[in-house]
Amino acid sequence: MLNWNDYHIEDTAAAATTGQTSAEPTTVPEPASVAAPQALEPAVVSPEPVAVAAAVVPPADAPPPDRIAQAAQAVANIDVAPGLEELEMGAARVTVDEKAMINCRVDLNQLVPFKYDWAWQKYIDGCANHWMPQEVNMTADVATWRSADGLTEDERRIIMRSLGYFSTADSLVANNLVLGIYRLITNPECRQYILRQAFEEAIHTHAYQYCIESLGMDEGEVFNMYREVPTVAKKAAWSISHTRNLSDPTFSTGTLESDQTLLRNLIGFYAVTEGIFFYCGFTQILSMGRRNKMTGVAEQFQYILRDESMHLNFGIDVINQIKLENPHLWTEEFQTEAIQMILEGTQLEVDYARDTMPRGVLGMNAAMMEEYLQFIANRRLSQLGLPEQFPGVQNPFPWMSEIMDLRKEKNFFETRVIEYQTGGALTWD
Ligand SMILES: [Fe+2]
Ligand SMILES: [Fe+2]
Repeated sequence: MLNWNDYHIEDTAAAATTGQTSAEPTTVPEPASVAAPQALEPAVVSPEPVAVAAAVVPPADAPPPDRIAQAAQAVANIDVAPGLEELEMGAARVTVDEKAMINCRVDLNQLVPFKYDWAWQKYIDGCANHWMPQEVNMTADVATWRSADGLTEDERRIIMRSLGYFSTADSLVANNLVLGIYRLITNPECRQYILRQAFEEAIHTHAYQYCIESLGMDEGEVFNMYREVPTVAKKAAWSISHTRNLSDPTFSTGTLESDQTLLRNLIGFYAVTEGIFFYCGFTQILSMGRRNKMTGVAEQFQYILRDESMHLNFGIDVINQIKLENPHLWTEEFQTEAIQMILEGTQLEVDYARDTMPRGVLGMNAAMMEEYLQFIANRRLSQLGLPEQFPGVQNPFPWMSEIMDLRKEKNFFETRVIEYQTGGALTWD
């Protein structure tokens, strides 16, 4: 195996023209006098990393040999130390004990040894649940949506509001994941799942777009709902204000205050945005599917909900692991604040339920949804180790749990069976 401490590639191009054999930085000769690189010279021991030579770029019309010589010189002069974050020549190998959820100082480019097996398992499970929106048959939905008496006005409102909220919410979620959470969670196996989750969010936005396009909806109306319909706008505004630090490129952790800010943002992101704000709309659409209406849209939502329940569980595990490793962050004051966030999220979702269900529809009404959301809020609070705030509430929609626990091969609406084929068609000749 190559040992970078004992091995150094000689700067053959420069040596060929200047006679230099030292590993010290060299000046690139005039392009016209540079010879094409020869075979590599034997290795020269270089215990100290070499500094990168100032780049002398050949002119635009320089012949290819000059460019090749320039590339050879740049490679010879690579200093491995500053190229990668936290990479230290000859450093001891990463051990499990050194890994940490936040503020980790060891090399983050090494996936193993695993410390958080649950994160890796979620990555494996997420990949096993792979699906694509175009696989869902939307033909019946298009006919229902176009027919004058296929749906009531209340049912139409529910579909429009759901697509309006989710189509932009999942883009917001993806932005927070990619621009913030990935950077701030300093653990490779968690980052592996975050990459999977980010792709799933892209699939979800794709699914909403696919529904909107298939049904021939007014895209401008649907995609602007989060700025034009108050109950949708308030949820979006709450999420943006409570996850603001995640997408702020200047935000970093490492102090009590900033670590608490990250934790607060993660609760706003995972426990409220993904853990509460999706539940009224999902319940409404899935109830529609159970009544054999808009089964294509409902099936898309069913797969999305399965992904989302894993996102939520991952987020709860991340938050609890950060608490475990940094108990000083979880003060009484912080816990009070976290409870307040869950309650605010619940209230916003109840308002959304009232707005989308001015009267009973699909065998449910706003009062039942309120109880369901209180049941969900209790669940989020206890998952975070916080006291339930709605004693005695029951789950009025037990069938929702059944859908979330759905296994891939057992389709809830019995419309189709999915088995993903991966890599079967690859050949190498
Ligand atoms: Fe999503
Ligand atoms: Fe999600």
